[in-house]
Amino acid sequence: MTAPRLTIRRPDDWHLHLRDGGMLKGVIGDTARDFARAIIMPNLVPPVVTTTDAKAYRDRILAALKPGDRFEPLMTLYLTEGTNPDDVEEGKKSGLITAVKLYPAGATTNSHGGVRNIDNAMPVLERMAKIGLPLCVHGEVTTPEVDIFDREAVFIETVLDPLRKRLPELKVTMEHVTTKDGIDYIKGSKANLAGSITTHHLIINRNAILVGGIRPHYYCLPVAKRESHRLALRAAAVSGDARFFLGTDSAPHVDPLKECACGCAGIYTSINTMSCLAHVFEEDGALDKLEAFTSLNGPAWYGLAANEETITLEKNVEPVSFPAKIETEAGPVTVFDPMFPLHWDVVR
Ligand code: NCD
Ligand code: ZN
Repeated sequence: MTAPRLTIRRPDDWHLHLRDGGMLKGVIGDTARDFARAIIMPNLVPPVVTTTDAKAYRDRILAALKPGDRFEPLMTLYLTEGTNPDDVEEGKKSGLITAVKLYPAGATTNSHGGVRNIDNAMPVLERMAKIGLPLCVHGEVTTPEVDIFDREAVFIETVLDPLRKRLPELKVTMEHVTTKDGIDYIKGSKANLAGSITTHHLIINRNAILVGGIRPHYYCLPVAKRESHRLALRAAAVSGDARFFLGTDSAPHVDPLKECACGCAGIYTSINTMSCLAHVFEEDGALDKLEAFTSLNGPAWYGLAANEETITLEKNVEPVSFPAKIETEAGPVTVFDPMFPLHWDVVR
C-alpha cells in the first residue's frame, strides 16, 4: 500500500521570531525548508523601530540563508510612541514593510519599549489606516491587576474594540489568538480583522506547563489556556474560515534561559510545524483545509499572491523523528514536543 500523501501550495508563516547573530544562523534553515515567506517579528534588542533598522535586519536575514534557500522575509516595524508616520509610509511604499507590530509595554520578551498609551500612537495608526498597512497586535493587557489568563479577553474589551471603533479602516491582525473570546471576537467582526493561530496552541493546554512538574518548554506568551479555549482554536483553524491562518510564533531561546528560576517565554516549532499541523488537521477530519490555513488565507489577508510552488506531505507508518534539541552558535534550543508520535512529514 502506498503511503497517504497530500500536496499543498508552499506554506507561509505569518508570525516568526528569527532573532539575530548565531541564533538566526541556527534557526533560519528550519523555516526556509518548509516556508516560502514569513512575517518577521521586530522584538530584537534593540528593537527594529525604523525602516533603516528593518532594511539592515532584512539584509542580515538574507545573509544567513544557505545558497539555494528560497525564502522571503516580510519585515515589520516595532511600534513605539515615537514612531514617525512618514518613515512608516516610506517603508510600505518601498515594499520593505509588510506590517507594524504593537506590543503593549511589558507584555512579552523584549517589549519594554512598546506602547504604554495607545493615544500616543494614533498619528501612526491613522496613517496606516490611510495607506492600508496592517497592524499586528500582541493582544494582551499588562496591567498587574489582570490575571494572566484573562489578559487577552481584557485586551479585546479595553483596547482592541475601542481602537477598531475609533479607526474602523485600520486592518488589524490579532496575533497568536489563544482564547475562545478572541476567536468569537474575530468571527463577529465584519471587516478588517483576522487572526493568526500558532501550532502549539492547537496542541497543548495549560496542563502541559503545570501538571506533574513545571515544564518550561511549554511556556510561551500568550500563555496556553484551558482546554475549552484550545478546542475553540482548533475548530477555527480547521474550519477553512479565511480569517484564520498560521503564525507559528516559533520563538527560540537557548535552554539555559528557559530552564531557570525566571525562564523566558517562547516555544520552538519551526522544525516540526508542518508535521504537527498535518496530524492535527487529520485528527479533526480536515486535511482538505490544511492548505487554506497554511498557504491561502494568510496571503489573501496581506494582499499577496499564494505561492506557486507546492510541498508534499506523506504519512509514514513509522513515526518521524525530530531532534529533541537543535544546536546553534548561541547554544542549544529545545524543539517543541507535541507529546504524540508524528507520522506526517514533508517529502524532501
Ligand atoms: C516571544 C519571544 O520570545 O520573542 N515569546 C513567546 O512566548 N511567544 C514573544 C511573543 O511573541 O510574545
Ligand atoms: Zn511572537
